[in-house]
Amino acid sequence: MTLLLQQALQVPGRLSALAPTGPEAILIRDWLWRPMYATALVTYVLVVGALLWAAFRRRSAPAEEGAPEGPKRRLGLGVGIATAVTTVVLFVFLVATMQVSRATTTGPGPNPIRIRVTGHQWWWEVEYRDARQDQWFTTANELHLPVGRPAELELVSPDVIHSFWAPNIHTKLDLIPGHENLMRFQADSAGVFRGQCAEFCGAQHGKMAFQVVAQPPDSFAAWESRQRQPAPEPADSLARRGRDVFMGGSCPLCHTVQGTGAGGRLGPDLTHLAGRRTIAAGTLPNTRGALAGWIVNPQGVKPGAKMPPNPLSPDDLQAILAYLETLK
Ligand code: CUA
Repeated sequence: MTLLLQQALQVPGRLSALAPTGPEAILIRDWLWRPMYATALVTYVLVVGALLWAAFRRRSAPAEEGAPEGPKRRLGLGVGIATAVTTVVLFVFLVATMQVSRATTTGPGPNPIRIRVTGHQWWWEVEYRDARQDQWFTTANELHLPVGRPAELELVSPDVIHSFWAPNIHTKLDLIPGHENLMRFQADSAGVFRGQCAEFCGAQHGKMAFQVVAQPPDSFAAWESRQRQPAPEPADSLARRGRDVFMGGSCPLCHTVQGTGAGGRLGPDLTHLAGRRTIAAGTLPNTRGALAGWIVNPQGVKPGAKMPPNPLSPDDLQAILAYLETLK
């Protein structure tokens, strides 16, 4: 519990449907969340009020043998009115849900940035397919967006059903094997928002988080052009040795580093790993210590994750960390 709390504090990002950052989330808050909350509050107050009224009334007026006709009719009328009001309220919410659903799926505008998000057990592959195919690039567990430009996500899954949920941005939407779901939205203010897999997908479902980083267009453009670059050549000898350890071990079987021989697709693309805020899908902050712990014993952090333990010698571990830190 304490560990989870520490992790939550170390890995920032807001997670609240009440602090929307774009038109879709605002519609959901104002037309669904608030009216439903208000209705629930009024219902609660009415029910508790009726309960108290019944309790005190019974004490002051003891029951008589055989209920007279008047109260019976009043009771029937009361139940009838309550049923009618409930039906109307549910119908109103049904219509509101359909309207909001339609308004939030048509898309915020033309020229959206296109991103393919693939849910894996238990991390997110994020592929920017926004330009010519030779300019596509892939990252993981972090969704960068330019503020004020619509985004269109293609949500897919190769294994089990996951659910993409960043409450500051939009409603949740499932990633279903063999089916592609489209999510359209826009972020109107800069910030880091937390997202979470919202569909039970196995042992580490709870540690399948991501971050949405909404940033001003120029800083997004700078990030985007950096992501398109291959990994830089390590400058110092320790990092170069780390690259040799990385390439000589089992790492390239699962991980890609653009510009090198590593082209595995089972795990996250590591080309710009050092620029990310978290590792292991929002489970740990991206620090040297956390990275070392994750590389040596991923099963201690996320039991059942596909990454095997790597019992490296201390020297090799330091070298590999030095190399990974060059992947900016
Ligand atoms: Cu993926 Cu729950």
